[in-house]
Amino acid sequence: MTTQEIPAHVPPELVHNIGLTESPEFLADPFKFMAGLHERLPPLFFSVGQQGTHKSWQLTKHSDVYFVLRHPEIFTTHGQGPFPRDPDNYFRIIPLEISPPEHRKYRAIVDPLVSPQAIAKLEANIRKLTNELIDNFIDRGECEFAKELGRPLPVGVFLDIMGLPRSMMDEFVRWAMGLLHAQDRAVAGQVMGEVTAYLNSAIAEKRANPDGGMVSAIVNGKPGGEPMSEREIFGFVFFVFIAGLDTVFAALNNIFVWLAENPERRREIIAEPENINNVIEELLRVYTVTFSGRVLTQDYEMHGVTMKKGDRITSILPTANYDPDVFPNPKEVNFHRPRTPTLSFAGGAHSCMGAHLARLEIKIVVQEFLRRIPEFKLAQPIEYFPGAVIGPKAVHLSWK
Ligand code: HEM
Repeated sequence: MTTQEIPAHVPPELVHNIGLTESPEFLADPFKFMAGLHERLPPLFFSVGQQGTHKSWQLTKHSDVYFVLRHPEIFTTHGQGPFPRDPDNYFRIIPLEISPPEHRKYRAIVDPLVSPQAIAKLEANIRKLTNELIDNFIDRGECEFAKELGRPLPVGVFLDIMGLPRSMMDEFVRWAMGLLHAQDRAVAGQVMGEVTAYLNSAIAEKRANPDGGMVSAIVNGKPGGEPMSEREIFGFVFFVFIAGLDTVFAALNNIFVWLAENPERRREIIAEPENINNVIEELLRVYTVTFSGRVLTQDYEMHGVTMKKGDRITSILPTANYDPDVFPNPKEVNFHRPRTPTLSFAGGAHSCMGAHLARLEIKIVVQEFLRRIPEFKLAQPIEYFPGAVIGPKAVHLSWK
């Protein structure tokens, strides 16, 4: 896709190919890059990705993003799943690609399993698993945080919630990484085959032997009174897997890079244990790891520009969370900021189903790691993955 193929209704002065998620400038320091967009770009612009894959309007202001997320009748999620699918074996990504009002019936199947009350019951288990993982490396005086804690912890918790065996931990880490970060399409295709086979067998097993986990809840779910088709069940189980792993990996890994680089701020967190929820909220604001894509169902005007029905629009959530009109002095990490809703987990009907769980996991890992290893530093420079979930490839920490 070249700049010449920009649709005729897009004003040329609004085309800014900024290399979001893939350019060397972005990858050198993604969060600095995204925080800086307010200073150099209009609030609505049009961009074509380097591979031509992201021909889309882009939004950076908190208020505009808030509006888009709350108007699914204008900005739909249809076909917006962050994952290319085989057209011959197409499945809808559920619940993301279902629109209100039907959407609520699908969320009702899984929401009770990730409500604040349900999640609170997992706390002791998450703390135990976190400490077991720390036990594996604490005496060594160093670790590769992403590999040894940032990835296995969320996978273990996810398996528990889904009602799948913990013995699948290594396999699920490999699958999540292979699907989302393999540079090679053949590798991603091979992994997709393995994941499909495993999830289909897990679905069959839970149909035969139901339990209290999420796979069972989905298999037995009846949105609108009718059972779901096999494809719907697969699209639902598969999307919870895709949505709930890499995002938590990335958030944890980014936060631990920051903790390693900011010893004074680490000590501030340790000194104010009662403020931990605000700490996590603020770190999730400055390290917002993903985006939200929609398609216009009708022509719509914003900032004096008419976007056309069928156009794509991306809310750059990380940038919206640095909007100076909503978060004064946005680049400062301030654990005592007045509470303003962030867009870390998006908003509106499709707001993240796993937000309570993600917050709890991150809080527990920060608390337990800082309790047991209060002083540590980065042992190697950081390199970031390109792509729509922003996080480091590896986080080498040392406390020798
Ligand atoms: C720090 C971790 C996480 C972040 C930053 C995150 C972010 C997001 C965002 C931004 C959306 C909205 C997408 C959109 O509007 O286009 C979303 C939706 C979703 N997330 Fe998360 N997520 C996280 C963890 C999780 C976890 C742990 C789970 C599963 C247990 C999960 C499951 C989902 C699902 C199923 C949706 C779709 C909701 C719907 O369409 O109704 N996420 N997430």
